[in-house]
Amino acid sequence: MTILITGGAGYIGSHTCVEFLKAGYNIIVLDNFCNSDRQVIDYIKQISSKNFKYYECDLCNKAQINRIFMENKIDSVIHFAGLKSVPESVKNPLKYYENNITGTINLLDAMNSHQVVNIVFSSSATVYGMNNKVPYNEDMPLSATNPYGWTKVMIEQIIKDYAAANTSFRVAILRYFNPIGAHPSGLLGEKPEGLPSNLMPYICQTSIGKLPYLKVCGTDFETKDGTGIRDYIHVCDIANGHLKALELLNKKSGVFIYNLGSGTGTSVLELITTFEKVNEMQLPRMNCNRRPGDISVSYADIHKAKKELGWKINYTLEDMCRDSWNYIKKFKECNNI
Ligand code: NAD
Ligand code: UD1
Repeated sequence: MTILITGGAGYIGSHTCVEFLKAGYNIIVLDNFCNSDRQVIDYIKQISSKNFKYYECDLCNKAQINRIFMENKIDSVIHFAGLKSVPESVKNPLKYYENNITGTINLLDAMNSHQVVNIVFSSSATVYGMNNKVPYNEDMPLSATNPYGWTKVMIEQIIKDYAAANTSFRVAILRYFNPIGAHPSGLLGEKPEGLPSNLMPYICQTSIGKLPYLKVCGTDFETKDGTGIRDYIHVCDIANGHLKALELLNKKSGVFIYNLGSGTGTSVLELITTFEKVNEMQLPRMNCNRRPGDISVSYADIHKAKKELGWKINYTLEDMCRDSWNYIKKFKECNNI
């Protein structure tokens, strides 16, 4: 079985490549490396001791995508490629709509021309918007608060409409909550790039002294310690969810939607103190205002993924904090930052 993995050099994609190679699949990576390094390809090969093809290709370029489908017999697609920064999407919405939506339409079009019917798509907890009650389940109404989030809502709809018109099409939409952590080898992780907008990358950059202090954004939420609650999940558990989803699509046709989270809410302070404890350090921090539009609590109902996919979580919050630190420490040593 050959799986095309778009965005396979990225944070979640690279861990998923390792998972599929370990399980004996043949993979092909498609990436334009706009938010990843070519070196990641070598690290995936090193960890898995397997070889595979990769293409430097932009999903906005139809001809390039078609060439890949023409040159290879692809059985299924896992679609990670997309831009993911919320603040950048607010500043430059057209870039997000073009890259994420046009890219997906081009991909679906190429799949259609080459009779490829299985796709697993990376969606996000962001599609639950601001008005649902926790824990979020897959049947709740969708909305978004920023252009990035709207691209996810719109792509879900495009894929569902396409599947309704093409009944042989098989889709798994996976809504990730807050993926953190890194490969235990320390070779793969979330590349530190610019000023991070998410909490764990901020913790990591503070832990290596690249940022002077942590910002605790909001201490007056209606939560146990006043800080925001989120559902953190190890990136290797997320990667394994894709394997389970594709196994399902190989057995059953239809459109399937699953939350991938831990099912547990963790506050900002709990995450910081766990990171400090596991990695035996103290991080400077400052209390700041809430980020505009931040909700107080978000966590997943994960019963459906557990029951229907047979997916289970193997990593704890401590593992996530240890592996994130292990990666950033190694990255700092290798890249002299
Ligand atoms: P990432 O930026 O690390 O990986 C995305 C990869 O896609 C990168 O390697 C990038 O170079 C590539 N890419 C982007 N646009 C492309 C294009 N037009 N053509 C070819 N390649 C392109 O991001 P990630 O954290 O691994 O996220 C993967 C997917 O999961 C994204 O769709 C993201 O929106 C979604 N997601 C991520 C999170 C998260 O917290 N990391 C949460 C929910 C959903
Ligand atoms: C982010 C994305 C969202 C995506 C989700 C899952 C933003 C604005 N939203 O939201 O689209 O679906 O990740 O990947 O990027 N915090 C601090 N200090 C910081 C950064 C964050 O205290 O420096 C707090 C936040 O207020 C929040 C928690 O940490 O309570 C987690 O923040 P973050 O990592 O950005 O995740 P989400 O808010 O879930």
